[in-house]
Amino acid sequence: MPGLVIVGAQWGDEGKGKVTDLLAEGATTIVRFQGGNNAGHTIVRDGEEFKFHLIPSGILYPDKICAIGNGVVMDPRILLGEIDGLKRRGVDVGNLRISANAHLIMPYHVLLDTAGEVKLGKLSIGTTRRGIGPCYADKALRLGIRVQDLLDEKILRKKIMAALEPKQQALRELSVQRRKLRKEAGEGVREGADQTVAEAPDPRLDLHAMTEEFAGYGHRLEPHIADTAHLCWEALDGGQTVLFEGAQATLLDLDHGTYPFVTSSNPIAGAACVGAGVGPTDIDEVWGVAKAYATRVGAGPFPTELEDEAGRHMLERGREFGTTTGRERRCGWMDLVALRYAVRLNRMSALTITKLDVLSGIGSLKVAVRYRSKEGAVFDEFPYHQSILHSAEPEYEELPGFDADITGCRSEAELPAAARDYLGFIAEFAGVPIRLVGVGPSRDQVIWIGGEPSLRAA
Ligand code: GDP
Ligand code: IMO
Ligand code: MG
Repeated sequence: MPGLVIVGAQWGDEGKGKVTDLLAEGATTIVRFQGGNNAGHTIVRDGEEFKFHLIPSGILYPDKICAIGNGVVMDPRILLGEIDGLKRRGVDVGNLRISANAHLIMPYHVLLDTAGEVKLGKLSIGTTRRGIGPCYADKALRLGIRVQDLLDEKILRKKIMAALEPKQQALRELSVQRRKLRKEAGEGVREGADQTVAEAPDPRLDLHAMTEEFAGYGHRLEPHIADTAHLCWEALDGGQTVLFEGAQATLLDLDHGTYPFVTSSNPIAGAACVGAGVGPTDIDEVWGVAKAYATRVGAGPFPTELEDEAGRHMLERGREFGTTTGRERRCGWMDLVALRYAVRLNRMSALTITKLDVLSGIGSLKVAVRYRSKEGAVFDEFPYHQSILHSAEPEYEELPGFDADITGCRSEAELPAAARDYLGFIAEFAGVPIRLVGVGPSRDQVIWIGGEPSLRAA
């Protein structure tokens, strides 16, 4: 089973980091294929917590190659911070590889992300404000700056110059618009002071300073820069297992998610080929990761969202606060209409259900099995029409809950019957077997169903 993709099946934060860490034991190469430091992947080992934003979640194994693929957008300051943090904790990052073709998140991308969100006001997406959207936009516009450009200061300067000019203009316009809006809203704009802020060049956008700063990052990152697609081919040709670690999730997919409330990349399994540089026939398995309930950070439709006691139970017991931004996650019941959609979009071969422990003591369990529109129309499938999705009311199946603490269970047989039935209902509805269940944050708090997969690490 050489190629295995790990993909988020809901709106993110399902526990992909933990599942990657577990499966990485049987792999030689772990590669991130999309997204950037909007991701926050957590691993808990022996009581120690690690949070990764860019570095693949296989890094705790010193003998595995961990690659940041060409499909990732990479903020070098964040990556260097992560590398330094890991080194301080005694983690060897010598096997970290960065694709020379990955695009760089520049300071103007971060500024534009924030300015765009502020401009949208109440209609904002709720992005992580890490510059992800503007960076992918520049990639598509062919104005992007890539990791390889860091290695030649002359080229770097030229490329920054070409990319910078339209950004300065856009930021100036956004700033003027903001002043106007604030004035209209009667927010007492101090004419002189604000004018200066709007028109003075932002020191973060100085061409020379930026070139120097980024060339410096290039020097530090150079030993890690590589042809990461080639590394994947070598491992795959040798019959070794390569893990493709997804970030974000299916319902945040730019094409298939709840647009425009999505991220700016394709987190679905199909994108692993583009973002790592392998072919579709290299992928043998797709493991979807879903929580036993659902969460979402940021704005956008979330049909099963709860604003009651059960939702608070999930928030508190599940510690549903964002790994990257610290924001409270919105919580709700498991949405099987959305999950089945994700199973098909990714053609999953297996499901992992995490955080089952969080549901103990919540009372009876609800799962959404269809939606009903305002006009009374029934939707068995995830509706493609935005307006329908925004107003869809879920219809639930109610299943018995369980009160026992399951954090110590290590086999399916040890779980309460109601927990087993809950899992059985999900697998049946989604049409895919559950192979792994999470019963706590720690690496060992899992239940393998049907045994651990046989991967090849040598
Ligand atoms: P990712 O972005 O998909 O990697 O997920 P995050 O790391 O952002 O969020 C998942 C959170 O749930 C982390 O704090 C994990 O430590 C935690 N977690 C993972 N699996 C389990 C589980 O089975 N039970 C509990 N209680 N927590 C879990
Ligand atoms: P992991 O990999 C949860 C959400 C943001 C916002 C939308 C767009 O940890 O599961 P962006 O900054 O990407 O332009 O924001 O996507 N989002 C995530 N939500 N987990 C993530 O990553 C996310 N990455 C982005 O909250 O709604
Ligand atoms: Mg996360």
